[in-house]
Amino acid sequence: MSNLIEILNNAGQEELANYLNTLEGDARKRLERDIASQDWEELKALHAEKSTASLSDNVSSDLKPMPFKIGADDLRYEFWKETGEIILGKGQVAAFLVAGGQGSRLGFEGPKGMFDIGLPSHKSLFQLQAERLQNLAAQVGHAIPWCIMTSPLNHEATVNFFTEHNFFGMDRQNIRFFEQGTICALSPDGKAVRDGEDHLALVPDGNGGCFRALAQSGSLAWLIERGVRYVFLYSVDNALCRICDPAFIGALASEGRSMSASKVVHKANAGEKVGIFAFQNNKPGVVEYSDLPEEYRDMTNPDGSLTFDGGNIAIHLFKIEGLRKLQTSKLPWHTARKTVCGIEKCWKFEQFLFDAFPQLGSMMPFGVIREEEFSPVKNAEGNDSPKTARTMIGKLHREWLRKAHAEINPNKLYEISPTLSYAGENLSRRVFERELGKNILEFDEE
Ligand code: UD1
Repeated sequence: MSNLIEILNNAGQEELANYLNTLEGDARKRLERDIASQDWEELKALHAEKSTASLSDNVSSDLKPMPFKIGADDLRYEFWKETGEIILGKGQVAAFLVAGGQGSRLGFEGPKGMFDIGLPSHKSLFQLQAERLQNLAAQVGHAIPWCIMTSPLNHEATVNFFTEHNFFGMDRQNIRFFEQGTICALSPDGKAVRDGEDHLALVPDGNGGCFRALAQSGSLAWLIERGVRYVFLYSVDNALCRICDPAFIGALASEGRSMSASKVVHKANAGEKVGIFAFQNNKPGVVEYSDLPEEYRDMTNPDGSLTFDGGNIAIHLFKIEGLRKLQTSKLPWHTARKTVCGIEKCWKFEQFLFDAFPQLGSMMPFGVIREEEFSPVKNAEGNDSPKTARTMIGKLHREWLRKAHAEINPNKLYEISPTLSYAGENLSRRVFERELGKNILEFDEE
């Protein structure tokens, strides 16, 4: 493979080229495989560009907040919901989970979706999602295909987990697992970092790699062939995610013009680690919390509320035409400086999926109530932790029961199985009596 040596030399990676020449046999083949998977010209250009940029280079000075409204009147909401249910019932909606991340903040080894947040049922995040999907599919009378993006770091463990749990009762034919791409970490001076003798330090290319991976894995074609027109894209760690929410689908479908829609909540406080919805140079999109300069983060309106208040909860809906367009479009790269394989301040690059929005033109922000739809499990303790998720689920489900006139204990929290109720429907005093201790579990607030 003298071609690889030439490519490396041209990209300023002579050290790696020389090292490769010292290897033989299988070890050489393994390293060659890693090298061949990378775009070395792009890496060279990226290092050159990023090593001279500053944090706020990712953010334009022309930044404006994106207005959004929470809730609609009952009639309109019902119309959206019914429209969404009709579309779901025709089999035109798929769920797409991006789950290739490392979840390092949580301190859990293994795919985050396998995590048990400590509910009385001890269901994993994957199981909660699978059950919600199945309940909804049963209600609308059509299976909902589920694409699950993993990364080389967690693919095997993810597929094994689903297999061990018999795909949580779902038809295997309706689930597709595929891996996202990787990108090589670079040392501070731009050299490829090696992981051991015969591998490169390849890290997942960010959740923005999902558009490429969906297409390259054949999954986009699979969805198109099945007649899917809307794809519900979401993150693995939101314990309250209403997967394939009919009202959300109906709203985008009836609004017509936009290629995508995104759920938005009011930010809890200026420092909350969520991206914000904004217009940059008049184009709609999201600015990540790590890229948002403090002056914007802390900016307030005359009434004291945050100016950039639209928090991204990582729930998006794409029309299939949008995904078609995005399979070949280039998203920008973001950087982080991290210790990789013992080398400090290495360059790690990743793409963010929401950078697709400016490329698609108009998008629809869809305001939702945090307590009903957003409880991310990010940290082992404190905010956004398993404990906050348990409490939020417990309170929400208690509220569903209260509205259904069930005779609940107001001092307790409740967990309702998603197999029984997707979003508060199908509950009554009788159902409560029948299901308590089975599909409805009572627990104490901590
Ligand atoms: C993400 C959003 C942030 C939002 C927050 C809400 C991005 C870049 N940021 O932040 O704007 O406010 O969720 O909870 O989306 N993933 C992959 N491959 C990767 C990296 C991540 O599939 O290479 C997946 C993760 O498994 C996860 C999702 O993307 O499901 C979000 O990634 P994460 O790194 O957890 O982003 P946050 O910092 O939580």
